[in-house]
Amino acid sequence: MGIHFRQVSHQYFSQQNSDYQAIYDITLSIEDQHEFICLIGHTGSGKSTLAQHMNALVFPTKGTVEIAGVLVSQKRDKKTDYNRLRKHVGLVFQFPEYQLFEETVEKDIMFGPLNFKVSPEVAKEKALESIRLVGLNESYLNRNPFNLSGGEKKRVSIAGILAMDPEILVLDEPTSGLDPQGKRQLMRLFKDIQEKTNKTVVIITHDMDLVYEYATRTLVLSDGNLVFDGTPDDLFRREELATWSLSLPQTIRVLKGLKEQFHLELNPYQKTVEEAVREIEKVTSR
Ligand SMILES: Nc1ncnc2c1ncn2[C@@H]1O[C@H](COP(=O)(O)OP(=O)(O)O)[C@@H](O)[C@H]1O
Ligand SMILES: [Mg+2]
Repeated sequence: MGIHFRQVSHQYFSQQNSDYQAIYDITLSIEDQHEFICLIGHTGSGKSTLAQHMNALVFPTKGTVEIAGVLVSQKRDKKTDYNRLRKHVGLVFQFPEYQLFEETVEKDIMFGPLNFKVSPEVAKEKALESIRLVGLNESYLNRNPFNLSGGEKKRVSIAGILAMDPEILVLDEPTSGLDPQGKRQLMRLFKDIQEKTNKTVVIITHDMDLVYEYATRTLVLSDGNLVFDGTPDDLFRREELATWSLSLPQTIRVLKGLKEQFHLELNPYQKTVEEAVREIEKVTSR
């Protein structure tokens, strides 16, 4: 099962502009369980395009994507139940406006479960459970999603996908536009979900601190090519980071600076501020 990309390319055809190839010849596999993947790369590198292939929202123009045992290729196949694939892999869009359309938050969150034949009572319970999970209280259920702040809209769109209980969760920049505390809180939530349910989580983000702290695997896109697939520990030791338009996490930057400036024998590869502080204490108390 899982998701398997085999030499996938995608070209957008456009009437106004010239055609544009967004991703090139991508081969990779994602397991149904245990993975916490961060998909990173500069703006326009193809991240959203790749993510939209993961639940057959977009079809490859070359190659195939296998999702939960179903092969998706260039043409829409009348026999394929694409809804089942979208239940298997839940995708939260980069822009919540594309996902929210009902007149109340509750109806919006209930839409997914109802679509998958869940009873209205259970869908209502799911809505309540999911809105709390994303850190909003139940008073939000009766509000109009369009009158919410950007961060609140984002949380509601995430609740809508959680309510469908997919095997794999794909989140396109779920923490952008949130305050630092909100970012951590949501990352913690995704990590909790992954640890408690063993579901695989795929997150697109530009925040290298969060990538280093949370990811078990990183995928890097550069100009539509998959240039790296491995652990964050290996990634942040690579010399090509700048050519891939990526920066180092703050902890590594600061510790490398201290190491050079004061000739300290410390290991700069610390994932959190707490670990970094401990490393400095260890070295300076010798
Ligand atoms: N619907 C579309 N039609 C034409 N080009 C598109 C379309 N969507 C995205 N692109 C182009 O494809 C490239 C990759 O876009 P995208 O996957 O959104 O990148 P990212 O999410 O990494 O910023 C960009 O250059 C973008 O302009
Ligand atoms: Mg994007």
